[in-house]
Amino acid sequence: MDLFEYQARELFEAHGVPVLRGITARSPEEARAAATELGTPVVVVKAQVKTGGRGKAGGVKLARSADEAAERAGEILGLDINGHRVDTVMIAEGANIAEEYYFSLLLDRSTRTYLAMCSTDGGMDIETLARERPDALARVAVDPLVGLDAAKADEIVAAAGFREDDRAEVARVLVLLGDVYRVNDATLVEVNPLVKTGEGRIVALDGKVTLDGNAAFRHPEWDAYADESADDELEVRARAKNLNYVKLDGSVGIIGNGAGLVMSTLDVVAAAGKNLPGQPRPANFLDIGGGASAQVMANGLDIILSDPQVKVVFVNVFGGITACSEVAKGIIDALGMLGERATRPIVVRLDGNAVEIGRHMLTEAAHPLVQLADTMDEAARRAAELAAAAE
Ligand SMILES: Nc1ncnc2c1ncn2[C@@H]1O[C@H](COP(=O)(O)OP(=O)(O)OP(=O)(O)O)[C@@H](O)[C@H]1O
Ligand SMILES: [Mg+2]
Repeated sequence: MDLFEYQARELFEAHGVPVLRGITARSPEEARAAATELGTPVVVVKAQVKTGGRGKAGGVKLARSADEAAERAGEILGLDINGHRVDTVMIAEGANIAEEYYFSLLLDRSTRTYLAMCSTDGGMDIETLARERPDALARVAVDPLVGLDAAKADEIVAAAGFREDDRAEVARVLVLLGDVYRVNDATLVEVNPLVKTGEGRIVALDGKVTLDGNAAFRHPEWDAYADESADDELEVRARAKNLNYVKLDGSVGIIGNGAGLVMSTLDVVAAAGKNLPGQPRPANFLDIGGGASAQVMANGLDIILSDPQVKVVFVNVFGGITACSEVAKGIIDALGMLGERATRPIVVRLDGNAVEIGRHMLTEAAHPLVQLADTMDEAARRAAELAAAAE
């Protein structure tokens, strides 16, 4: 889960990382009030969006008065930055920047360790720096069992080539950023730029933090970060019903039980669609899990059929703990519940526990939208053909 810059700033502050004051605003009037409250001769109006390159996209602007802050906020609010609409800005104190540095600490999955990256050439596009002058970006592995302690911080600042005079203070800040990373179960803490001000202070002027969603269970405070605006509406609905649903971009809606079966269903559908007009592909991934009840099946169908891109649904269930009769009941119930909203064909392949009963129930119900298939391949082919025909 990614945080907004203002949320990262708050975490930094809570851990003693030097930051400048910042106040969020959602309208030019609020921006004016925030600038007045800060009271500094210069403020910076910064778009709060979860994407990089805000500065280059016109999302970071200086203002020399409260009126100007309101004006800049008016320009930035509503901007589209890499597909993210700006609805909040942060009004931050203006810094007197002498030098800009780069620092990040991240989880390096390939080497199963943490990786610190640091450069005395920050502020600019760090990818360009890493590509064109790789020597200018120090990379230092950080043992997760030890963490970013004072000795490691000294090693990082030396590797990055900081001047002797600056090393102690930068290293002190890096240890605090390491605390932010560890205590908050982050997978990324990035500061670009970390600056030295004209007064010689080291300050984090920007912050990107990614939290490890797997640790959410031990962070009730993360509820405050819920940002449903960033998510697909159906994904939000599915999560509320405890369903694993992932939106994809094709036209065949897929419901299965168990991630393994659902994944192979995606593959057979993609393979079946390959040589058909429009090359129909999976529209989504919905795993109703083991032990799914009729109600769960109904919830799943409801969500899949709410996706306008879905032209046909493929229900692929192998009855284990979940009896096929339950699945059949779920399909019939869901169709009853959805009524006229159910307008697209549903290809069903059932196998395993209580398959005969399940098939019999669906045959008896004789719903015009439901088609039974004997095998997974046959069902995939039929679903792909129906999707291609509906294009
Ligand atoms: N509080 C501030 N005072 C003075 N200058 C600032 C301040 N905040 C940012 N800047 C300047 O604006 C530049 C861009 O700001 P920032 O790093 O926050 O955005 P960005 O790098 O464009 O965004 P991202 O990191 O998302 O790509 C900084 O490199 C710095 O020169
Ligand atoms: Mg930045």
